Amino acid sequence: MHRHRPLLSRGFWIQTVDRKSIQRYNAYKYQRLAGGFPVRSYLREMRQKSGVALKAMARDLGIDPGFLSRVERGLVSAPDHIIEVYYKRFGTLPDDITSPPEFGYLRENTAQYRVTQFTFPFESKPPVPARADLLPKVQASPLHDVPPVFYLSHNPYLADLTDPTRPPKFVPLPYTNNISAGKNSYVYDAHTYHTKVPPEGLKLLIKYYTRSGDVVLDPFCGSGMTGVAATEMGRKAILVDLSPAATFITWNMLTPVPAHRYLDAIHCVLKQAMELEQRLYNTHCRVCGRTVPMLYMVWSYGVLCRYCGREFILWDVARDERPSPRESKIRTEFPCPYCGKNLKKRLLKKTRRYPVQVGYKCCQRGLKEAVASPDEHDLALLAKIERDGIPKDLWYPVDPFPEGVNTRQPIAAGITSVDKAYTPRALWAMAYLWDVAARWPDPEIRTKLFFTLTSLYQRVTVFAEFRFWGGSGNTANFNVPGIMNEQNVFRAFERKAYTISWYLSNAPKVARQFRISTQSACWLPQIPSKSIDYILTDPPFGGNINYSEMNFLWESWLRTFTDNTEEIIINDSQGKGLEEYKKLLTKALVEARRVLKDDGWMSIMFHNSSAKVWEAFQQAIFDAGFAVEGIQMFDKKHGTFKQFVSENAVGYNLVLHCRKAQAPQIIEQNGKAEVHRQIIGFIRETLSRSRDRYVIKYSHVPRKKELDYRKLYAEWLATALPVTRINISFEEFRSIVDRVISEHDAANSVIRPK
Ligand SMILES: C[S@@+](CC[C@H](N)C(=O)[O-])C[C@H]1O[C@@H](n2cnc3c(N)ncnc32)[C@H](O)[C@@H]1O
Ligand SMILES: [Zn+2]
Ligand SMILES: [Zn+2]
Repeated sequence: MHRHRPLLSRGFWIQTVDRKSIQRYNAYKYQRLAGGFPVRSYLREMRQKSGVALKAMARDLGIDPGFLSRVERGLVSAPDHIIEVYYKRFGTLPDDITSPPEFGYLRENTAQYRVTQFTFPFESKPPVPARADLLPKVQASPLHDVPPVFYLSHNPYLADLTDPTRPPKFVPLPYTNNISAGKNSYVYDAHTYHTKVPPEGLKLLIKYYTRSGDVVLDPFCGSGMTGVAATEMGRKAILVDLSPAATFITWNMLTPVPAHRYLDAIHCVLKQAMELEQRLYNTHCRVCGRTVPMLYMVWSYGVLCRYCGREFILWDVARDERPSPRESKIRTEFPCPYCGKNLKKRLLKKTRRYPVQVGYKCCQRGLKEAVASPDEHDLALLAKIERDGIPKDLWYPVDPFPEGVNTRQPIAAGITSVDKAYTPRALWAMAYLWDVAARWPDPEIRTKLFFTLTSLYQRVTVFAEFRFWGGSGNTANFNVPGIMNEQNVFRAFERKAYTISWYLSNAPKVARQFRISTQSACWLPQIPSKSIDYILTDPPFGGNINYSEMNFLWESWLRTFTDNTEEIIINDSQGKGLEEYKKLLTKALVEARRVLKDDGWMSIMFHNSSAKVWEAFQQAIFDAGFAVEGIQMFDKKHGTFKQFVSENAVGYNLVLHCRKAQAPQIIEQNGKAEVHRQIIGFIRETLSRSRDRYVIKYSHVPRKKELDYRKLYAEWLATALPVTRINISFEEFRSIVDRVISEHDAANSVIRPK
């Protein structure tokens, strides 16, 4: 009856209900895309299975059958209440999905969240049938005898691994050892994601809180590190994220293929691409004249002097090149080459980009590439590429960047759509590789080829900032750098492929049990109440990173986008402030509490430097009915780039260990003065006990010794958070520390760090 088409790999079905992507999907060569991402609709399937006619269903819902049919087919995005009705009637919606936690005072607090306000025309129907009956009968075949594991939208089979009757591991006390895990591992490097958490650290927690066979849920899974850690340890993982880019990455991380098969495919792709690579990237060795591939081309914006109005090239004027790349830099302030007035780089109006340098390897010795100014041949090549244009039969995304916080800068710079985020040459190369991947016959390898391409992310776009020491910059914004490094896409692809192959060959060969769904954590109707053994998660931290914006670049290639209606974020463009953030986070935590077994634990990671965000976070946890029973730091060894450069960011994540509260949580609503007193006491005590622990050791940046305020702040939060309302920001905290130190200095000089 409802046979699944054998699709990508073991149980790989992707379905998308996003309108924009579907339209684009259809507008574009369906065939090729279908090779990558087949579309099917489970809403229709659910209804048909129960033998209910479309017309009858539409009548019950009081909506037009034509509209419902489009919803079912995923041509318009399915409104929440329709999904809810379908689940209630045909699916696995638990009875108590809508009830807030048991405490009276919480009922008021949670009134704004989804609480029993829907009246359904068929509420008198008998209870939801057993889940097993709902699973489609898939014809037994070695490849397709597992239920679908991954959807780019609601996965109706999300919870078929759970067993609500099995009690969770008995864990009376929270985990207490400090967690510190390095970021340089194969898993970590395989595919970038903003704020990744190293799985080695997560494993410690999973080991402590669960036993083999238990179900671990991460409702904000990002790149799936919880899933990697859990499945490698024989736990089952349920992974949810709002962003299809995130779940796409997660799925690929959890389905490693043999490295040799993957590398064979990569070599084959590169061989096939050789001719194009020569056409796009050939240059000449300036010493021996041989034709060699260009490894990169540096582009610099021309800028206008604010005083004399004349144009000059940033590269020529702002470049401060020294013998050691580490000491070289692009100056942020310099005099105008024409009128001599002092100029600030960031205030200059940009004109257009000029090629200023090429890098290649040929007859010179050593590891370093040869660099030269672009010559006539290089310029002629660029002109030819622009003239020829990308072949018509190659697809690439042209989606306009949505209005947003991180998209303001590129849009203002004229980078208004995804295709403009690449040089014509890089776009051609990307489109070519994407095309080869899409036509790859082996579906398992095909998605790994896509994955290799998405892993390039901003490295091959115009957002890639030039650096003298190589390397790549921040991935948490779309800043348009004054000086850009255009990499040879094929070489970048090859390099990334090797990194991924290390992951593949090091990934433990275990049978992994997991389900992945693309949906909001605020509402998990597929997961029965009290069915999850342990929740390990890392929700968005206020407005630190605008995930749906930053994932847009990936999603445009994947042709499906985040529905950001319920994105938990502080973001002007979405009209979401602190209140909305708190509301949505609470909603997600209420859901987390509902699905968690009564004696199960939830470990939740967080970091933010704003007192307001801390307060919201703390309130959300308590409102949702959790009690914080322990806290410690999760030291990611070195912070993300953003943390490294911005002074008032907290570099340590905190892990909060929570259980379902047995009674309403009392937090002392202390005024600032009282909290200040507490902090002063805390600082005095901590620094006099072990001041050396708080001196920053910079490994590769020469800086004077400095107190690690972040660590102190994180530790203070850890002691204060379960009991005190957090109303002190990092900056404020810092100034208190300085005060305490100088007071002590005056008295004796014991405390100041050496
Ligand atoms: C801090 S990141 C998680 C990163 C992850 N720990 C990792 O290692 O990659 C938070 C995630 O929450 C997702 N998110 C935001 N709002 C959401 C919602 N309402 N439901 C589910 N996920 C959401 C974002 O897309 C983002 O991937
Ligand atoms: Zn000037
Ligand atoms: Zn040479």
